[in-house]
Amino acid sequence: MRKKIIAGNWKMNMTPSKAVALVNELKPLVANDDVDVVFCVPAIDIIPVIEAAKGSNIQVGAENMYFEEKGAYTGEIAPDMLTEVGVKYVIIGHSERREYFAETDETVNKKVLKAFEHGLTPIICCGESLTQREQGITLDWIRMQIKIAFLNVTAEQAAQAVIAYEPIWAIGTGKVATTEQAQEVCGAIRACIAEIYDEATAAAIRIQYGGSVSASSAPELFAQPDIDGGLVGGASLKVDFGKIVNYNK
Ligand code: 13P
Repeated sequence: MRKKIIAGNWKMNMTPSKAVALVNELKPLVANDDVDVVFCVPAIDIIPVIEAAKGSNIQVGAENMYFEEKGAYTGEIAPDMLTEVGVKYVIIGHSERREYFAETDETVNKKVLKAFEHGLTPIICCGESLTQREQGITLDWIRMQIKIAFLNVTAEQAAQAVIAYEPIWAIGTGKVATTEQAQEVCGAIRACIAEIYDEATAAAIRIQYGGSVSASSAPELFAQPDIDGGLVGGASLKVDFGKIVNYNK
C-alpha cells in the first residue's frame, strides 16, 4: 500500500520571518500519520523552516536544484547544500521552471539522476498545456516527458521517486482537472513506468496530482486508484493546507 504524499509548493512566496510564522501556524493542523507531509520552500527559507518544523511531521523540500556538484554556476544551489541541512525532497522540472527558466526534459533527467546520487527524493513534474490537451496529444506528451526524465534511472531508484502530474492549464487558474482527467493521466503514467521497468516498480512509485487542489477537491482526487496525493501551490500558503492534508478525516 502506497503512503500518500501531500506537498506544498510555496513558489516565490514567504520571506524567512513569514515562513516561520506560517510553519508555526500550520504545524498543529497538518498532523496526519497516514500521509507524508512535505513543505517545498524557497532556498532562503529552508533553514528557518527546518528549525521551525522540528518536532512535527513536516519534512522539508527544495523547489529546485542544479545538476552539478559545485563551481561557477552563479545563483544555483548544489545538492549537498540541501542534504547537509536536512532537505529530503526536491521538486524537479516544474512547468514554471520549464516556461520561465528554459528547463528541458534533458535537464530534468540530469537533475533527477543527481538528486538520487545524493539520496534526495525528486518530485518530478510533468503536464500538458491546454493546446496539447485540445489536440488530443496529452498522453503522448506525458509519456515522452516521463521516458526522458527516467533515462538511466534504475528500477530501485524509480520506485522511490515521486511524480507530480500538473496540467499547466490547471495551475493557479482555479480550474482543477476533473477527477476522471486526473486519474486517466496518473494511470497512464503508472502504466508507462511499468513499461519502462516492471509492475513492482509501477506499484511502488507515488504519483501526485497538482493544479488548483483545494480542501474541497482533495478528497475525491486522492481517492482515485492512481493518485497518491497532491502537489499544492496557492492553498499550501493558507490554513486550508491542514484540511487538504487531513482529506481522509
Ligand atoms: P496551484 O495549486 O496554485 O494551482 O499550483 C499548483 C502547482 O503548481 C504546484 O506545484
